[in-house]
Amino acid sequence: MNRIWNSIVGKLWATILLLVSFVLFIVTALLLEFLDNFHTNQAEDSLRREAAIIGKLVLDHKDESSLQVIINDILDNETNAMIIGEDEEVKYAFHSGLNQERIEKKILNDSMLFPPLKKQSPVLKEMILPSITEEGVMEQFIVISYPFAADANIQGTVVIYQSLEAIHRTTKRTTHIVFLSAFIAFILTTIFAFFLSTRITSPLRDMKRAAFELSKGNFDTKLPVQQNDEIGQLATAFNQMGRQLKYHVELISQDKEQLSSILTSMTDAVITFNRDYTILLSNPQAERLLQNWYFKSGAKEDRNPIPPEIFHMLEHVITFAEEVEDELELGGQFYAISISPLYSGNSIRGAVAVLRDMTDQHKLEKLRSDFIANVSHELRTPISMLQGYSEAIIDGVTANDEERNEMIQIIHDESKRMGRLVTDLLDLARMESGHMRLYKEDLSVIPFLSRIVNKFMQVARDAHVELAYEFPEDEQIMMHVDEDRLEQVFTNLIDNAIRHTQEGGHVTLRVEKYADAVEINVTDTGVGIPVEDLPYIFERFYKADKARTRGKGGTGLGLAIAKNIIDSHGGTITAARGEVCGTKFSCILPLKKL
Ligand SMILES: Nc1ncnc2c1ncn2[C@@H]1O[C@H](COP(=O)(O)OP(=O)(O)OP(=O)(O)O)[C@@H](O)[C@H]1O
Ligand SMILES: [Mg+2]
Repeated sequence: MNRIWNSIVGKLWATILLLVSFVLFIVTALLLEFLDNFHTNQAEDSLRREAAIIGKLVLDHKDESSLQVIINDILDNETNAMIIGEDEEVKYAFHSGLNQERIEKKILNDSMLFPPLKKQSPVLKEMILPSITEEGVMEQFIVISYPFAADANIQGTVVIYQSLEAIHRTTKRTTHIVFLSAFIAFILTTIFAFFLSTRITSPLRDMKRAAFELSKGNFDTKLPVQQNDEIGQLATAFNQMGRQLKYHVELISQDKEQLSSILTSMTDAVITFNRDYTILLSNPQAERLLQNWYFKSGAKEDRNPIPPEIFHMLEHVITFAEEVEDELELGGQFYAISISPLYSGNSIRGAVAVLRDMTDQHKLEKLRSDFIANVSHELRTPISMLQGYSEAIIDGVTANDEERNEMIQIIHDESKRMGRLVTDLLDLARMESGHMRLYKEDLSVIPFLSRIVNKFMQVARDAHVELAYEFPEDEQIMMHVDEDRLEQVFTNLIDNAIRHTQEGGHVTLRVEKYADAVEINVTDTGVGIPVEDLPYIFERFYKADKARTRGKGGTGLGLAIAKNIIDSHGGTITAARGEVCGTKFSCILPLKKL
């Protein structure tokens, strides 16, 4: 019920009804008043007319019986009449009912109806007289006294009286009719008002529904435009608004998608911050970075954890409204960070940070500087020796030929060493740039390895190291390889092993054949390689002896070259600590495909 009063239909309906009821009320009241007066006046007029006619008849007709008949005809049923003679006695009475005598007496005694000075004008008066139809009831009557005269002499008076009841009856009937029509008018207004308001508001209701649809994001909602009035124009405007909204929302979402796909496909991490340093938006790269940092740093539970370094930079950017660039290490990775302020109008609403992963560049940079340091270190020692000894010879510091020959021998050794270093470096550079040419041919593994072992037998004997090999018997193992290069690898491995094994130790070469590969192990019982160094031994210039004393002579390039050679043959080389002590190098090489 409350809903109908809250709706426009209800309000419009109620207003129209109120208005119509008010108008009907006033019209009915005025009409009733008017009808009442009208009926009374009409009744009075007709009584006057009848009185005048009767007066004339009495004067003209001398025949009393016909006179009575005519007068009876003239008077209508409700009207009563008396003819009073000059002696003020009732001569005739028409339509007289009950209480005739009391009525006559009352009328005759009324001084207004029969003024003492006889005038020739009718008098009209309302009186309360006993009822003609009911006993013991008083009623209101209109009484007219009409004196009639012949030759200016008053001959008598006609008195006509009529109960007001009759007039009231007519008035009551008309009142009924008026009320009935007002009621019908009210009912019709109710129905029409309801239909009118529903008709006016039904497009409004459609509009309301459409507006709700629009607010839910359903921009395709269309309103039918049926009329050309304000409501029709409203519907047109509404449809236009829907189209515009759809267009703009699509534009915004397209922009957003474009932006987000750009952000997602970027290699750089991008984070947008609010003024309160909370993260507004970040791309997957940034999320990964933050998560990495979060786990590695073990930061405390925080809603928006950011590294403190970035936080400080952000503070600076937001406080001083200037761009900040820096390089940082986060969770083991190096990043170039640039943070710039974001403006909204003139005020700063946040900042955007772009983080570029510089770890690889860093590594390369380090590798380059290490390489230069190593090369110059490796070259400086022999060069200074060459200089020293050659100066000594030039200055003639040597005591005898033997000493001089010794010095020349050292100079010769060192220059050979330098030459070897340069060749090794060149080899390595060529291999790493992919320019190494392999001259592959079929090679039987066992004779090949036996030859290398035999080459080292004397060296091992001199070093008091037992060099042994374990080959599978009667096995023909064929590989398709560059023999010289492989010799370089195993020469280095065996040389390393003998050099790093104390007197009385063992160096063993073991060959095992698999379905499509052969594994060649070089094991020794020497000093071994520290576990933490194992991942680095294949890098250039790696030496377990950090002091780089020259006692055991190499350049630290042998294993790097070996790894490159094995890799380019499609094999693998690994190093591990020996089961008891020492080191175990294993090469796995593919067998020749049959
Ligand atoms: N079998 C081994 N036992 C202990 N340490 C070893 C062994 N093999 C290699 N190393 C360590 O690894 C380092 C690198 O070896 P690599 O063969 O690359 O260089 P090098 O022998 O010093 O010099 P080059 O082989 O160029 O003459 C060596 O200096 C040594 O410290
Ligand atoms: Mg070596």
